[in-house]
Amino acid sequence: MDGEHNTGVQPISHAQAFETLAGSNVSMVLADPNLDDVPIVYVNRAFERVTGYAAAMAIGRNCRFLQGPDTDPDDVKRLREAIEAREDVTVDLLNYRADGTEFTNRLMMTPIFEKDGKIRFFLGIQKPLSQLEDMLSPNAVRHAMREVQHRVKNHLSMIVSMVRMQGRSAGDARSQFDTLARRIESLQVLYQELSNPERKRNMDTVSVGTYLARLAAATQSLDGRAGIKVNVNVDTGDILTNDASTLGLIVSEVLTNALQHAFIGRETGTMELRGQSLNEGHFRVIVSDDGIGFPEGAIWPGRAGTGGNIMNGLIGQLGGSADVTSGKAGTVVTLDFPGLIRRP
Ligand SMILES: Cc1cc2nc3c(=O)[nH]c(=O)nc-3n(C[C@H](O)[C@H](O)[C@H](O)COP(=O)(O)O)c2cc1C
Repeated sequence: MDGEHNTGVQPISHAQAFETLAGSNVSMVLADPNLDDVPIVYVNRAFERVTGYAAAMAIGRNCRFLQGPDTDPDDVKRLREAIEAREDVTVDLLNYRADGTEFTNRLMMTPIFEKDGKIRFFLGIQKPLSQLEDMLSPNAVRHAMREVQHRVKNHLSMIVSMVRMQGRSAGDARSQFDTLARRIESLQVLYQELSNPERKRNMDTVSVGTYLARLAAATQSLDGRAGIKVNVNVDTGDILTNDASTLGLIVSEVLTNALQHAFIGRETGTMELRGQSLNEGHFRVIVSDDGIGFPEGAIWPGRAGTGGNIMNGLIGQLGGSADVTSGKAGTVVTLDFPGLIRRP
């Protein structure tokens, strides 16, 4: 069968094929991962045209000489990780030509293995993006997103300081301003987590463990009393970013309540924030303290009053429920949220 299709076709040799590819308009390099610092061992003519570096200037060096001050370290990290893992990767990153001009390089990198499975080379193909391609590249979108997040984060902290300042001169209404500031802060912490460069996931979900740990640290640092310890132990798991903003508001409220009320008249105390990932996405949050306990007859969240209504509303929004036990040994708030954890 194959013979029929091949009628009249003269196969060319490997050497001819290589010579042809080498002369193509596509910029290519080979680097040797078996040598120290993965140096370039071959560049084609298109590489010389695209980068402005003659082959003799490039051979023996690691390709990172194409990077410069505005190259995003996250992009470089992705390349480094792919090389370490011997994997393919495509990254759009900022590179610099020999004359110092910048271009966005859509770099495709792939390992080339010998028959025995040992790695022989890495092949890199460099495509300079046109202005339009650059604007539409996932990287540009990622950078724009990051910029927006950065601004939102800054604006939120500006609002928090304004609300706190206003609160200081608000007399009896101060605690209301503090509550407001704290709620905004829990969103600010969420934005911090979303713009954390260590994240690998998209913007749809956040890691509940890191988010709640950051939130607890922020709440504790606002409290500022050295004798009060907050231990955090939260299982890992991803939750929707939208759910995270609601959960953050709830948890920050519970933590602050405990910090404000549990240790009145005491110098020391311990609180614990636990997050347990149970079966079928069920997530349980337990906030416990060894403080003085609730006053007789008090319930949380209250049925009357704005604060209580807001909390009940937020808990309901996540389809959750709250249970509180309180006594002389302290208070335990248990919050249950069935189906909160998402499968990766
Ligand atoms: C075959 C190959 C081609 C590469 N081409 C480029 C390139 O065109 N531009 C670039 O900035 N980095 C390129 N790199 C990536 C860098 O050489 C280096 O691996 C990267 O900066 C991550 O490592 P580092 O953190 O040690 O610098 C290439 C790597 C390999 C193996």
